[in-house]
Amino acid sequence: MQGVYYIYAKMEGTLLKYICVSLVTAGGCIMLYSIITYLKSLASFKVQANEQGIFADWIYTACMFLMSFFFVAYIAVDVIFIIADTVSMANIIIAFVFVFGAIFVYTMIMMLKRMSTTISKKTSEIIKALINAVEAKDQYTRGHSVHVANVTKLIYKYLPETTKSKINMAKLMDAAILHDIGKIGIPDSVLNKPGKLTPEEQHLIEQHPILGKKILESTSYQSVGEIVYCHHERIDGNGYFKIEANKIPLESKIIAIADTFSALCTDRIYRPKKSYEDAVRIIKEIAGTQLDAEIVEVFCSIPKKEFENIL
Ligand SMILES: [Fe+2]
Ligand SMILES: [Fe+2]
Repeated sequence: MQGVYYIYAKMEGTLLKYICVSLVTAGGCIMLYSIITYLKSLASFKVQANEQGIFADWIYTACMFLMSFFFVAYIAVDVIFIIADTVSMANIIIAFVFVFGAIFVYTMIMMLKRMSTTISKKTSEIIKALINAVEAKDQYTRGHSVHVANVTKLIYKYLPETTKSKINMAKLMDAAILHDIGKIGIPDSVLNKPGKLTPEEQHLIEQHPILGKKILESTSYQSVGEIVYCHHERIDGNGYFKIEANKIPLESKIIAIADTFSALCTDRIYRPKKSYEDAVRIIKEIAGTQLDAEIVEVFCSIPKKEFENIL
């Protein structure tokens, strides 16, 4: 009888130990999966947070550090349970706390991910509506903003790593798609005028970067306002607002090339569209005076077939 009781007690101890190890291992797996999900979504979390001004970058690093610390703790506790001879009921409670802690972290990350996706979807819908409103004013520029954004993305792809490191890709793309947003405030009669513009009308057109910056100032896109403001500036200082080359944001210089290329490759009310070869030749001709020569060089290094998908 004593023997049976001994075996039962031994089994009970082993069973408790297995329960503890299983719970902590499950918690560790959930924590590891949470870390992977967090890392995968980190870029979009940061973009959303920067645009909405919610969290500073260090908060993301701190969260990553804390999750990694807890993951190591899960492994350590698991090892302790495995090598322990017996475990108590208190250990079972600890194991449950560990597994529920991991489930809590996972739930929070999934909520953050869902929030980020919803914000990004709503934001892109608002941008789309604004762009449509601008492009509805001028039938010749339909699709222009998306085209400029696509060409900008292509130029960014071919930039040397040292230049890329100076650019915030999300900011660049936002500015590219929103660069002509200020045209919403320019009369249709001026935007669609077939003949030569009078000095007053030209002055009105030149107000669109200022209007664009003003519109963006009151939104979560205020950080791209300066890039939008400078997208018609020239390297020789003869742009709309005569800004010197070294004061023009790098992003504006990239968008200026994409904008010029897009304009040349589109039918306009006053001229038919140019071929890809002619557009590249014209861009080369104005490198160093109107456009940044180094970025034009990068632009010219892009194979023609890359443009075929976005034209
Ligand atoms: Fe423009
Ligand atoms: Fe444009």
